Amino acid sequence: MPTKAEKDALTGTELRDHEWDGIQELDTPLPKWWLYVFWAAVLWSAIYFVLYPSVPGISGYFKGVLGWSSRTQIEETLAEARKGQAKYLDRIRTTSLEDIRRDRALLTFAIAGGKASFAQNCLPCHGPGAVGRKGGYPSLADDAWLWGGTLAAIHKTLEVGIRAGTEDTRTNTMPTFGGPDGPLKPAQIDDVAEFVLSLTKRSTDAEAVTRGAKIYADQCAACHGKAGEGNQELGAPTLNDQIWLYGGNKTAIVAQITKPTMGVMPNWGGRLDAETLKMLTLYVHSLGGGK
Ligand code: HEC
Ligand code: HEC
Repeated sequence: MPTKAEKDALTGTELRDHEWDGIQELDTPLPKWWLYVFWAAVLWSAIYFVLYPSVPGISGYFKGVLGWSSRTQIEETLAEARKGQAKYLDRIRTTSLEDIRRDRALLTFAIAGGKASFAQNCLPCHGPGAVGRKGGYPSLADDAWLWGGTLAAIHKTLEVGIRAGTEDTRTNTMPTFGGPDGPLKPAQIDDVAEFVLSLTKRSTDAEAVTRGAKIYADQCAACHGKAGEGNQELGAPTLNDQIWLYGGNKTAIVAQITKPTMGVMPNWGGRLDAETLKMLTLYVHSLGGGK
């Protein structure tokens, strides 16, 4: 057995006091740099333990002398973000739609806000991207407008709604032309439907169109315009384009004349705040059809 102080002849390092079949082990000390890092880490963890939440207990945990928590950090970040938003929202409230439109940063904020609110409130009826849905939910992304596509007109539509049942809502009622009490017989409805088809060059019956033109001038032109160009004052759709609320084939047109369908859109004035209404207006206006 080697004694404790015995040194290896080759390296000069002390030997451990055991051997197996003549093989001995060097007692190499730990490198200094390793020891420094080790003790620094121990010290660091001790400081961290005291400053930050660390030791779990039965009903909670030691919160650390700094009082830091990931939750308060998130709350601070959110509060910061809200402060930034509130600044923009204040400006939107006090700036006219036209002026917001000229302010690039404010407009970008407003359109983003409008888009978010649209997804929440409008998408079920008007569809993703506001492209509309079958059955009378108009696209808001084209330039066909029932009630007008200017900023002011869109804002008003949102505020008061359409046939929303309130006093100031936008409304107009297309008369029922068919049925036993209606002013038109089925044959006349057929004729005027042929005339409506002729506005988009789809009629195949020239004589019916001639008869229908007279009925149209008497019964329909007051709302839909002489040439079917529509009237945004009255919310009467154009009949001489290819955009239809309820379908543009003859069956759908006859059905509409016989017993009209009329769309209802909620009034948002009381439900959404003034900033949101403005942001929605700017968003809808930005979709491509804004005037
Ligand atoms: C319950 C279904 C419904 C919801 C929800 C709805 N709309 Fe409408 N909206 C309609 C219908 C139906 C019309 C067409 C009314 C008509 O036929 O005159 C319409 C019409 C409009 C118009 C007028 C289009 C034009 O051509 O003049 C605008 C603008 C509009 N909606 C925007 C919105 C916005 C913005 C929201 C969300 C805040 C919204 N709508 C939510 C059903 C809805
Ligand atoms: C008092 C005004 C008024 C009169 C008169 C009127 N309409 Fe209408 N018409 C409307 C309105 C408003 C709508 C849109 C309903 C809605 O928004 O849901 C409409 C919708 C229609 C539509 C559906 C358009 C689409 O895009 O799907 C057709 C077709 C139509 N009218 C044809 C006629 C014809 C034909 C006559 C005459 C026999 C006539 N209307 C008379 C107000 C009128």
